[in-house]
Amino acid sequence: MKVVSVVGARPQFIKAGALSRELRLRHEEILVHTGQHYDQGMSDVFFEELGIPAPDYHLGIGSAAPGAQTGAMLAAIEAVLQKECPEAVLVYGDTNSTLAGALAAAKLHVPIGHVEAGLRSFNRRMPEEINRVVTDHVSTWLFAPSDAAREHLAQEGIRDGVHVVGDIMVDALRLHGARAEARAEALARHGLHAGGYYLATVHRAENTDEAGPLRRIFVALDALDKPVAMPLHPRTRKRVAELGIGIGGNVRVLAPQGYLDMLALQRGAACVLTDSGGVQKEAYYLRVPCVTLREETEWVETVASGWNTVAGTDPERILTAVARRPGAGAPHPDLYGDGMTAGRIVEILS
Ligand code: UD1
Ligand code: UDP
Repeated sequence: MKVVSVVGARPQFIKAGALSRELRLRHEEILVHTGQHYDQGMSDVFFEELGIPAPDYHLGIGSAAPGAQTGAMLAAIEAVLQKECPEAVLVYGDTNSTLAGALAAAKLHVPIGHVEAGLRSFNRRMPEEINRVVTDHVSTWLFAPSDAAREHLAQEGIRDGVHVVGDIMVDALRLHGARAEARAEALARHGLHAGGYYLATVHRAENTDEAGPLRRIFVALDALDKPVAMPLHPRTRKRVAELGIGIGGNVRVLAPQGYLDMLALQRGAACVLTDSGGVQKEAYYLRVPCVTLREETEWVETVASGWNTVAGTDPERILTAVARRPGAGAPHPDLYGDGMTAGRIVEILS
């Protein structure tokens, strides 16, 4: 079978990389990179480190307003699908690249597989929520990471084609975790030692569009009792400069990290503070407590387990959540599968 996989943003390279290995054992894969992320540290580094095959098509769309960006991707992906005539299209997660890939395929009647289907924040002001709802409703195969995700789909009337397969990011961790463990220099390079720092990432629109939330987050990070290592997403770097936000001396700003160094930095942190979906889950898998800098999360199981606290952007709530984080011995149930998600997806597609 010929499958076109559409990726464009950092977390999608990591997810597609894990699935691609299995997929190519049995099928022909054509990889399309929309160009949504394009800096070396946001794109190429993942292909190089994780051995992801070079894209067959690089659409070079780049950054733009959401409608213009999604529209440009839609037209370019449509042209690729018309040329390649695949039997299926795979899309990942909830970015504008996901939506464009799904819409282009749906219009051409190509069946769509959505990896990470059924996640919901129930906040329609999030661009990602729109992307995932629409993608789920045009997909043929809905690869859900959890029973909660399957439930969300059922509540929207989607029952056919739903498969609970676990989380593909556990596969990525299983494949690359050992290499990341060997990256002790990832900490030393920044003068950090295991357990002696917190790790923060922030990039969500809701936290970067307005000055208020971003300012409050930096106030909280500066008031923490250990230094904070913060690989800064380019969106956030830009907004910090535009809004004239001061970054206190407790925060060590780093460039976006490669996947292996990022895992090493997470593993060594006393606590992770983030608005990232992927980082919330990785913190859990690595048994590092997490404080989520949002008012809701899609990864509700991590919160139910006690390892993740949804704290929003109020400094007092954030500081309290960090202080009350669970200890290393807290119960840690297995969530989101066994790291064999890629094999299940390929089996179902086959
Ligand atoms: C996107 C996704 C988000 C995902 C995140 C992963 C959407 C709506 N959002 O958010 O769901 O969690 O990727 O990281 O699709 N920029 C650069 N260099 C780059 C990429 C971006 O400088 O390589 C800057 C540009 O100023 C751009 C801004 O970052 O305007 C935002 O990039 P964009 O891809 O629109 O959204 P993300 O915030 O990255
Ligand atoms: N990540 C990375 N380097 C960084 C920040 C994140 O490799 O500097 C990885 C992180 O470990 C996870 C994924 O990128 O695997 C999460 O992506 P991101 O936070 O950009 O997006 P989200 O998961 O929120 O969509």
